[in-house]
Amino acid sequence: MPAAADRQALLRLDLSQQTARRGFRGNHRVRQGFPLQCPIVLVARSIAMNVAADSQERPLARRLVMITGASSGIGKALATAFAREGNPLLLISRRIQPMAELAHGAVVYHQADVADSAAIVAAVKTAEEIHGPVECLVNSAGTADAREFELVDEDSYSREIDTNLKGVLNCTKAVLAGMMARQSGTIINISSVSDRKAAPVALAYTATKYAVRAFTESLREAQSKNGVRLINIAPGYVRTNIHSGMHISFEEYRAKLGSPDFMTAEALADIVLFCWKQPQSICIRDLVVAPTRTTF
Ligand SMILES: NC(=O)c1ccc[n+]([C@@H]2O[C@H](COP(=O)([O-])OP(=O)(O)OC[C@H]3O[C@@H](n4cnc5c(N)ncnc54)[C@H](OP(=O)(O)O)[C@@H]3O)[C@@H](O)[C@H]2O)c1
Repeated sequence: MPAAADRQALLRLDLSQQTARRGFRGNHRVRQGFPLQCPIVLVARSIAMNVAADSQERPLARRLVMITGASSGIGKALATAFAREGNPLLLISRRIQPMAELAHGAVVYHQADVADSAAIVAAVKTAEEIHGPVECLVNSAGTADAREFELVDEDSYSREIDTNLKGVLNCTKAVLAGMMARQSGTIINISSVSDRKAAPVALAYTATKYAVRAFTESLREAQSKNGVRLINIAPGYVRTNIHSGMHISFEEYRAKLGSPDFMTAEALADIVLFCWKQPQSICIRDLVVAPTRTTF
C-alpha cells in the first residue's frame, strides 16, 4: 500500500493519464492519442517522485528537525538525542552557541527570540536552503515564574505569554504551510502537566500551558486531513535550568515545590524520540510523563 503522499502523487499521475487519453489537460486541448509516456506524464511522474522524496520516503534520520529552546534543559537533551539519530538540526534560542557534543552533526544554530516571528521565518529559510524542509518541529522554548500571582509583575507574565504561547504559534506558522503542501510533518509541543492541572502558584505559566494544549489538539483536528501530526507532551518535573528565571537555586526551587522527585531531560528526550519514530500514519496525540514519586 503506497504511503499517503505517494497515493496522492499517483492519483495526480493517474488523472494526468486519463486527461491525456481524453485529449484535455486543464483548459488546454492537447493532441489526441499521443503515447502515455509523453512529456506531460513524465513531468507529473518526476514531480510525484520529488514530493515523495522530500517527505515520507526520505529516511527519518535525514529529515531536518527544528528545536526551540535548544540551549538548555529539555531542548538541549532533544538536540543531542536527534543528533545521535543522524538528523540535521535547526537549533534556536536567544543565546544558542555551537555545542561541542554536536561537533560532528549537521547543525544550524540560530539566535532568535521565539516571540519574533520575522526572525523565526528567517531561521527556517536559512536551514531549509541547506537541509531541505523542516519535517519535525519541537517547541521546547519556555519560561516559568512559579511564584504566587500577586508577586509576579507584568514583565514576567508577558514574557511567559510571549515565549510559551506566542512562540509556539510563531514557530508553527513558520513551518506549517510547507508541511501542508508536502502532506507530511510533525509538530511536537513540550507543554506541561500544568496544561491540565491548576495550581495556586505559577498561574500565568499554567494559563499559557492550558492554551498550548488547546492549540495543539485544535490544530491536530484541523491538520489530520493533511497528514500533519500534532503531538502534545506534558512533562511533570524535569531537572533543568527553568528555575534560573526566578533567580533561585535548584535546591530552593525544589523546596518551593515541596521537594518532589525530578526526572532527567535525557529520559524525556528518549520518549519524544519514540513518538517521532512512529510511522507518519500513527499520532501519539497527548502524553503525560512524570516521575513516579510525585503527587503533582
Ligand atoms: N523543567 C520542568 O520541570 C518542566 C516541566 C514541564 C514542562 N516544561 C517545559 O519544557 C520546556 C523547556 O524547559 P526547560 O525545563 O528545559 O527549561 P530551561 O532549561 O530553562 O530551557 C529553556 C530554553 O528556552 C529558551 N528560551 C527561553 N525563552 C526564550 C525565548 N523567548 N526565545 C527563544 N528561546 C527561549 C532558553 O534559551 P535562551 O535563554 O538562550 O533563550 C532555553 O534554551 C518549557 O516549555 C517548559 O515549560 C519543563
